[in-house]
Amino acid sequence: MRATVKSFIGIVSAAALAEAALYSNTTKFNHTCAIKPSIQSCSLASLDLANVDTCCTETYGGQLLSTQFWDTYTGLEDEGQLLPKKQWTLHGLWPDYCNGSYPQYCDLDRQYDRNPPEEVNGQKVKPYKGPGVDHFIKQWDRYDLLDWMKKYWVSQGQPSADFWAHEFSKHATCYSTFDVPCYGPKYRKHEDVIEFFDTAIAFYRRLPTYHWLAAEGIVPSNKTQYSLKDIQRALKKHYGAVPYLGCYGKQYSQVHGSKNTSDHGSTELAEVWYFSYANGRPQDLNVTHVDSLTPSSCAHTDGAIWYYERTPSSERDE
Ligand SMILES: *[C@@H]1O[C@H](CO)[C@@H](O)[C@H](O)[C@H]1NC(C)=O
Ligand SMILES: *[C@@H]1O[C@H](CO)[C@@H](O)[C@H](O)[C@H]1NC(C)=O
Ligand SMILES: *[C@@H]1O[C@H](CO)[C@@H](O)[C@H](O)[C@H]1NC(C)=O
Ligand SMILES: *[C@@H]1O[C@H](CO)[C@@H](O)[C@H](O)[C@H]1NC(C)=O
Ligand SMILES: *[C@@H]1O[C@H](CO)[C@@H](O)[C@H](O)[C@H]1NC(C)=O
Ligand SMILES: *[C@@H]1O[C@H](CO)[C@@H](O)[C@H](O)[C@H]1NC(C)=O
Repeated sequence: MRATVKSFIGIVSAAALAEAALYSNTTKFNHTCAIKPSIQSCSLASLDLANVDTCCTETYGGQLLSTQFWDTYTGLEDEGQLLPKKQWTLHGLWPDYCNGSYPQYCDLDRQYDRNPPEEVNGQKVKPYKGPGVDHFIKQWDRYDLLDWMKKYWVSQGQPSADFWAHEFSKHATCYSTFDVPCYGPKYRKHEDVIEFFDTAIAFYRRLPTYHWLAAEGIVPSNKTQYSLKDIQRALKKHYGAVPYLGCYGKQYSQVHGSKNTSDHGSTELAEVWYFSYANGRPQDLNVTHVDSLTPSSCAHTDGAIWYYERTPSSERDE
């Protein structure tokens, strides 16, 4: 909840006040970022609230995570929700705090998630019942964007458009640079939503995980297992920093109970999170890549990781 907005109508709740420091005193005037210094997020200058324009510098959620999934099925194949061949899929673009923790559902006036948590920071969150964010994209006549999102921003177990809404409401509302006043007095409804989708996609398109791994001989296989350190080395070679790798499924220690191992990491590769700082607005795509601060959830024993082939009928033809 942005306390700036609430205070105009005179109902600043305790919870809103507690969060007020987060989203600052942004007005809808004078955020011409092109004539302002390009400040790196998480630097000392970015946290100098008296002098920084929070619309031009990502001020609190300055540690950006561009995240992707490797799913082997969607669960909604019958409805045509299929995975793109030779591509990981887009998960999101998250503004984590510089210290590694993260805010969520920061503006309940922009809550489009149909299944949000019941409560965030002591405030009740209402499930969204209105038209989907895919409808907003159509209202903006951005059918090319919508087509692309259906292909590459694919969810598992829920319609992809509900997932896009979740990503926007949970994460994007926490960026200082996608805050509504930043768009100025001529803001058009959902401009922030469209711009966030554009930005998340632009980040994703620079991070071709499938091809980076394949270039190092790491391709999906239901026969050969891989080592975490080889996957990390392959991605570091192309990204310049070590991303977070997330695994699901059985723990190595469960699979190999007889081996007396302390390796409780999971064995099925499923996620990658690329960390960076933004120089200027994330929207401007000038980022500095940094190592993940989060330890991998994957098993570290040599040859412990499955990078499964997909079910062929879960992939689209082209
Ligand atoms: C915007 O900036 C101009 C030039 O610095 C200034 O005169 C004006 O008062 C500012 N407007 C607002 C609403 O802050
Ligand atoms: C905005 O609020 C912060 C405190 O949250 C204060 O330090 C800063 O000076 C204010 N900036 C402006 C431009 O009023
Ligand atoms: C991390 O930083 C945020 C924002 O400055 C702060 O609210 C939070 O308490 C910090 N968390 C920890 C664990 O230090
Ligand atoms: C299992 O390994 C730990 C140390 O890694 C050792 O202390 C313990 O004795 C081992 N247990 C068995 C049954 O080998
Ligand atoms: C990107 O940011 C870096 C660091 O602030 C800066 O040196 C560089 O000039 C910027 N590049 C562009 C194209 O703006
Ligand atoms: C590979 O294994 C996964 C996980 O068991 C399974 O879902 C998938 O269908 C398999 N793919 C092929 C091509 O056999």
